[in-house]
Amino acid sequence: MRKKRIGVLTGGGDCPGLNAVIRGVVKASISTYQMEVIGIIDAYQGLVDKNVRPLDWGDVSGILTQGGTILGTSNIANPFKWPHKDAKGDLTFSDVSDDVVDYVDKLKLDVLVCIGGDGTMAIAHQLSKKGVRIIGVPKTIDNDIWGTDITFGFNSAMTSAAEAIDKIHSTAQSHHRVMVVEVMGRYAGWLTLESGIAAGGDVILIPEIPYNLDVICDYVVRRSREASRFSIVVVSEGAHPAGGEMVVSKVVKESTDPVRLGGIGHKLANDIETGTGLETRVTVLGHLVRGGTPTPFDRVLSTRFGVKAAELCYTGTSGVMVAVRGSEIIAVPLSDIGGKMRLVDPDHYLVDAARNVGTCMGV
Ligand code: F6P
Repeated sequence: MRKKRIGVLTGGGDCPGLNAVIRGVVKASISTYQMEVIGIIDAYQGLVDKNVRPLDWGDVSGILTQGGTILGTSNIANPFKWPHKDAKGDLTFSDVSDDVVDYVDKLKLDVLVCIGGDGTMAIAHQLSKKGVRIIGVPKTIDNDIWGTDITFGFNSAMTSAAEAIDKIHSTAQSHHRVMVVEVMGRYAGWLTLESGIAAGGDVILIPEIPYNLDVICDYVVRRSREASRFSIVVVSEGAHPAGGEMVVSKVVKESTDPVRLGGIGHKLANDIETGTGLETRVTVLGHLVRGGTPTPFDRVLSTRFGVKAAELCYTGTSGVMVAVRGSEIIAVPLSDIGGKMRLVDPDHYLVDAARNVGTCMGV
């Protein structure tokens, strides 16, 4: 009897834990389920360019702790909206998904494991509607995927952000300054909220709670007159004043989600310095929090996700994403996930905890 053969790809922005998931999928597939694994290079790009390679035990040994992804990734490659330049050099899009479905057939892939964020899951769901058997694995430092309590990569990014904010304390204290730290996370405030609490941020600003500049200025002025004499302001890249807009740093036209946020840290620092007269500086953490080795928490979660994905491939389940619910790893239908985003409820217990230790949430 022919061995089952599965494909695996990593899509969207990289984050710590991708390699740990790949390793979990490959090792469980080979040792427990006697399946073959084919790695797809650079996300869905590899299914269009026909760029794949077999993944054996040796290929994934030693990658548990490595950041990034050995398969490469892309947050542009979408077979349903494939970017081309026309004769005039203008950007146009076409649907090459039929070619992808044919290629998956030609590779004799019984199932395709798609590891990625909401963009990758949306494409995976569209492919599953065309008959490709799919298992999704939820990745993102933003922790904004609906249907799972947590995504892998979040804990590592949160830890890196908290460590960076810890280090900012030295200059804040020594120079009696206001130090603004901008943190990624797109439209969700999880990364800022948890790293801000973990590192004792004095002001935490998230997209889900639009801020009032006067409240922030009064708060940092008060702190400047107290024994501490400094303030750390942790701000999400998607934070914005009540009635104001998010700051967009660039638009990547080819991308499935073209908007890239960034720049609120500088705007806010300028507004605070003008509004208070206090010396204010900015640090933008940016992609720094996406790099490096996954935390032990993420290594365990990624391994569990990878192993579960292999099990579902073997048992014939498809059209689902693995997810955490409490301490269990479950499967949720891809059809339930699309178009939804897991955001911070302004009454969430973490917001409550921050407020109870005197943190200013900007309102
Ligand atoms: O979704 C992950 C993320 O790091 C977001 O937090 C951030 O807004 C975005 O990706 C940055 O994307 P890029 O790597 O394309 O600049």
